[in-house]
Amino acid sequence: MDSRVDALLEKMTLAEKIGQMTMLSATSERHESLTRTGQAGAFLNITDAHDIARYQKLAREESRLGIPLLFAHDVIHGLHTIFPIPLAEAASWDLALIENAARVAAREAAATGLHCTFAPMVDIARDARWGRIAEGAGEDVVLGSAIARARVRGFQGRDPADPDSVAACVKHYAAYGAAEGGRDYHTVDISERTLREVYLPPFKAAIDEGCLIVMSSFNELSGVPGSASEFTLRQILREEWGFEGFVVSDWDSVGEIVYHGYARDRAEAALRAVRAGVDMDMTGFSFSHLARLVEEKKVPLELIDDAVRRIIGVKVRLGLFERPLRKPERVKAVQLSSDHREMALAMARRCMVLLKNDGATLPLSKGIRSVAVVGPLADNREDPLGTWSALGRADDVVSVLMGIRAIVSPDTIVRHARGCDFEGDLRTGFDEAIAMARESDVVVAVLGERSDMSGEAHSRVDIGLPGPQLQFLQTLQATGRPVVLVVMNGRPMSLAWEAENVPAILVAWHLGIAAGTAVAEALFGDVNPSGKLPASFPRTVGQCPIYYNVKASGRPRGSTANLKVGYVDSPMTPLYPFGHGLSYTRFEYSDLVISPESVALDGALTVSATVTNTGERDGDEVVQLYIRDPIANTTRPIKELKAFQRMTVAKGQSRKVVFELPAADLSFYDTEMKLVVEPGTIQVWVGPSSAEGIEESFELVAAEPAR
Ligand code: GLC
Repeated sequence: MDSRVDALLEKMTLAEKIGQMTMLSATSERHESLTRTGQAGAFLNITDAHDIARYQKLAREESRLGIPLLFAHDVIHGLHTIFPIPLAEAASWDLALIENAARVAAREAAATGLHCTFAPMVDIARDARWGRIAEGAGEDVVLGSAIARARVRGFQGRDPADPDSVAACVKHYAAYGAAEGGRDYHTVDISERTLREVYLPPFKAAIDEGCLIVMSSFNELSGVPGSASEFTLRQILREEWGFEGFVVSDWDSVGEIVYHGYARDRAEAALRAVRAGVDMDMTGFSFSHLARLVEEKKVPLELIDDAVRRIIGVKVRLGLFERPLRKPERVKAVQLSSDHREMALAMARRCMVLLKNDGATLPLSKGIRSVAVVGPLADNREDPLGTWSALGRADDVVSVLMGIRAIVSPDTIVRHARGCDFEGDLRTGFDEAIAMARESDVVVAVLGERSDMSGEAHSRVDIGLPGPQLQFLQTLQATGRPVVLVVMNGRPMSLAWEAENVPAILVAWHLGIAAGTAVAEALFGDVNPSGKLPASFPRTVGQCPIYYNVKASGRPRGSTANLKVGYVDSPMTPLYPFGHGLSYTRFEYSDLVISPESVALDGALTVSATVTNTGERDGDEVVQLYIRDPIANTTRPIKELKAFQRMTVAKGQSRKVVFELPAADLSFYDTEMKLVVEPGTIQVWVGPSSAEGIEESFELVAAEPAR
């Protein structure tokens, strides 16, 4: 590959090299002419197969060197067949299904002629106010890293050059999810230890899985903008991790270095970005200043050559030079195929999280006499598509009302009223819905967020049910009829009143095209909910950021036991913890065994336990393994997820779960920022969430000195 790339580099003018470093958005006459003259290397936001073919033809046949364009798009959870949003998929903890969902997205994207998707987004998010928590895998580094790998495998397949594969682009490098206050695009100021222990591992996991492209982030990181950081882009990404693909900026994040106050103008921004290691400038045209900077010897030509070498190298790796122009007619055969629809339903079935189910309110009987289906998300086919819904269409979505109508018996009376809106305080729709509730055996309230209430540039200071929805729910509850709450959301929400007053709450996220079918199947028992929260649900937004793997504090202990640690007006614990999710059956844990009981620092241990289904129906359980290192060379979290396994346990059956845990998985950065595994006692829990489990411990022991 190198010789081919070098041979091409030899022939390129400086203008053509800078052209390869330029990504443009959408079609236009100007973009066509820039393509003809070799001043564009890649495009985003061109998703029509004919347009892609037309632009590729211009590049291949009319530009001087015929270097193929790379076409990218935000295929985040599907292109036409829209799957549940990534946060929902994370709630399935089902790596095979998550990989499969990415595979379907890749297949539909590749059929259109796209070569790359701007995914997986792997930003760890501990603050539910941040709108982009919807796009990632939640708050935990181990779950997030496993999902990052699965998504890269799904997008890139066995070979990213395959006709059904696309290059993955892991984003947003780095630590974008740690924005203060959950304010999107805003300041990130965290310690290097937190950066390396919490925010970087999912990126490393994606790159270790072969991810070909990295996207640099908008945010500053401890004083340096993510798209100008030599520390993260060169020292860590290139020197420590050996990443050989290319770095594309986020949308004009090179030019925005000026607004961060880190460059006086776009020329200096371009200089800082290319020195740091950004290879391609998305839409900002800041790299057009590079020609002069090279002539003025402010930017060494080899930096340009290195960037172009990496970009061309990825194009060669993707087989773009050999790939024939796409046949647009192929798209029809692939998009929204029946097996893609089936896979979207299979995924949706596993993402739903049953938060509570007092008195076995759920599942409902299909023979129920009458049911009122109310709320702004009940007969809604637009919002279940969620944020970043690419080419998804509302017509392809099954609403909850449609799903319920399809599943109940023909004699069941199904009533519907919208009841209220997502915003404002209009109560005019309440009466109609209340009247229906009074006549119905059960009320299904489908409430929550519109798809545009989460995602990019949609952080919120209030994460309760938006608008008049809570008042609407309280009015429904006051009728005395049994109310089931179905929440559709792009983030953890604060549901304190709901948790106190509504007997059953099912979190349905934004589940994509199969939303209504999956929700109806869960409500009426065809599906046994099995999702587990990938992010903590706070009692109130005042608790944010909130996450399970917090550090211990020095109080309350002994003489300070009577002091209120944390807040005087709220417990420290979330409403529902990371890893929480109920089932229509019950699982009990027993026989936790750790062997050996003493483990060498470079050894491994086996942890096993028995999971028994003591309920009336089969179910899936996500068994979680947590540890705690109570005494260490730096303070350690009170719990850390280290492994998990999703398993089906038939009713009345017991199954043994076994985890193989290398001691290296217990490493952390010590006070000198060295990655160490230390001798000492390690506590272990195996259980259904971060808040419960059976406990044992083992010893990590330093090797005996050689005699
Ligand atoms: C956006 C997002 C990024 C996306 C890119 C291209 O601003 O930050 O996630 O991939 O621009 O649409």
